[in-house]
Amino acid sequence: MKRIGLLTSGGDCQALNAAMRGVVKALFTNLEDLEIFGFHEGYKGLIYGNYRMLNYRDFSGILTVGGTILGTSRQPYKLMRIPDENGLDKVEAMKLTYHKLRLDCLVILGGNGTHKTANLLKDEGLNIITLPKTIDNDIWGTDMTFGFQSAVNIASDAIDCIHTTAASHGRVFIVEVMGHKVGWLTLYAGIAGGADIILIPEIPYSINSIEKAINKRTARGSHFTILAVAEGAISQEDALLSKKELREKNKMSHHPSVSYEIAEQIAQKTGQEVRITVPGHMQRGGSPCAYDRVLATRFGAAAADLIIKEEYGNMVAMINGEITKVPLEEVAGRLKMVSPDSSIVKETKLIGISFGD
Ligand code: F6P
Repeated sequence: MKRIGLLTSGGDCQALNAAMRGVVKALFTNLEDLEIFGFHEGYKGLIYGNYRMLNYRDFSGILTVGGTILGTSRQPYKLMRIPDENGLDKVEAMKLTYHKLRLDCLVILGGNGTHKTANLLKDEGLNIITLPKTIDNDIWGTDMTFGFQSAVNIASDAIDCIHTTAASHGRVFIVEVMGHKVGWLTLYAGIAGGADIILIPEIPYSINSIEKAINKRTARGSHFTILAVAEGAISQEDALLSKKELREKNKMSHHPSVSYEIAEQIAQKTGQEVRITVPGHMQRGGSPCAYDRVLATRFGAAAADLIIKEEYGNMVAMINGEITKVPLEEVAGRLKMVSPDSSIVKETKLIGISFGD
């Protein structure tokens, strides 16, 4: 008999259900006796003992369904050691729930913050297996996370739609793509959507370079320009500020996001009409694409295999196309960022796309 807990934590993304289905199908196929406990809304469910027992049928028909059947929430890692408003020690509460239910393993699907807490729970003696989810594809130790390719499809569809209207009107368009800390999604969607300028947090931009890139297009006879801008794009001047100074600056700003600041500057410098489109949480919604369904299913099956072999304390990962495992302590607290020297950035520049640097 194995007793397994399941939870999804942090921002949702496509294929969370597909991944849980993969875990559960593989366990039911290969184990005689199994009990599954699903925790509601991520770590919150584990802290407050809010769960339900699930059976095989609960995972039927969810391969294509977006979101998560368990619900999710953000429970910041930095608050995990701080008691809640009633003085409850959250880490002790999570351990208590785990032991009360006599779990053999807790399967956690999450992104970066989630992995820090997963590693903490592992250090506290719990058996943990994790699966890397996020539209940002920024988890250290895996080439790919599920959710990313679906979000790339949605963001590049948005850029496709903007193309026709931008061309008709001869306007500059900014499409703001999700990603506060890393630019993978903006980079892929920008390339796939044929953006002319791609701005990502890892490569601070200069407004003069953006102006030059737009003017170059105009001189060549292209009367519209499309920018794919990450939520976390940052100017070269702002990149020199401390975190505190930047927070203060953003607090004082009348712009809802960096795209609005860039739009205002482009309009002033070039005299061109600028419009902004923010697809926002659409990028995390809807049915997973076929790639994510396959990846999440493979990750799920691999997680089940680790549970059966009792190889706890690992995240399932994909490295060079192979599904493998990475120790949680290697993953926790590290971000996989776009390197400005990477070949993908070089190739993108080679075809004339500007990073505004
Ligand atoms: O980490 C996933 C992500 O969608 C980021 O790309 C985005 O910056 C952030 O979450 C948005 O967070 P929230 O859903 O809390 O608004």
